Amino acid sequence: MPSRLYALEPAPDLPPDIMSMMLAAERDVLFSIAKNYCIGVGDIIDAGLFLGASTHCFVRGLEQNPRGTCRIHAYERAIVGRPLAKLRPDLGRPKDSYSDQLRAILSRIGGNVELHIGDILDADYSGTVEVLFLDIMKQRETFRRCNALFMGKLIPGHSLVIQQDHYWPMNWYIPAYMQLLEDYFTIVDRAETSCIFLNTKALPVDVVDRDPLDGLSPAQIVALLDCTRDRGTTPFQVMMMELCVVAYGMQSGNPAITESRLAEFEAKFDPSVRQTSPRVVALHRRLRGLYQQGSDPTALSRAPRQTQESEATAAPPL
Ligand SMILES: C[S@@+](CC[C@H](N)C(=O)[O-])C[C@H]1O[C@@H](n2cnc3c(N)ncnc32)[C@H](O)[C@@H]1O
Repeated sequence: MPSRLYALEPAPDLPPDIMSMMLAAERDVLFSIAKNYCIGVGDIIDAGLFLGASTHCFVRGLEQNPRGTCRIHAYERAIVGRPLAKLRPDLGRPKDSYSDQLRAILSRIGGNVELHIGDILDADYSGTVEVLFLDIMKQRETFRRCNALFMGKLIPGHSLVIQQDHYWPMNWYIPAYMQLLEDYFTIVDRAETSCIFLNTKALPVDVVDRDPLDGLSPAQIVALLDCTRDRGTTPFQVMMMELCVVAYGMQSGNPAITESRLAEFEAKFDPSVRQTSPRVVALHRRLRGLYQQGSDPTALSRAPRQTQESEATAAPPL
């Protein structure tokens, strides 16, 4: 892996009213890129921002960057979900909009931020992208829309793409897409579930406007995911990518894939290895349980975090 393109520094603490789904190391990456990498030749895309933690990291980094500044385009539909309603009843009940509260948070954060409230499926973008932060692609449709909106606007040789859910097994299409496009991207860093890519050359239009995974067979998708696993540099990344194939089997209705890959995971990684990550342990247990019940794993999602905890101390986000 090439050495880091920027100096990694700890991000400032979040204000107490900004809960985040990102771990500290993931926020450090955003802060450090804004502070040490951006030169102001394009925008930062911040999608989605939830309660503004990613925006906070970018703004605090940019204000310490002597080389240039960027406009931040922040995308969020700002609809209260059930977990958020429980943790933050002040934001409203499930399905309420928290756009007013989000605007208030962003005005306190400051910086050059344009907030796009609404479904990103209906959004437009016509600029040039210096940094593309994607933490919004829990649905395949959103993934396709974000690719169409932003991937063709990168600056080859300079733009960074931060795939926040790269090592999160429920979104198999993210690592599969990035692996398919390995000739166009170089991995420059990783943190927890994030993987950071340098765009090295312009992408062909047909992988931007269309979903190139559509034409692939399950065996081809599994081969892409196995390549991503083999490029992993930590047991966490390798185990998460093994579980990604398990989840892909369940989501695509291929029980043979799920069954064989669950058995392989259990044979390869004994409990002492799995216990190096509470998230791996929890996810494996849930996937095994859902498989035995014949349920769809799509519902498994990440949960908001109250504090600045690390992987070692975090409650499993399930
Ligand atoms: C995982 S959270 C982002 C966490 C955030 N980056 C942080 O720092 O805590 C994903 C966000 O994307 C938003 N989102 C998901 N689908 C969306 C869509 N189609 N349009 C707009 N926002 C969407 C959700 O409302 C949610 O706040």
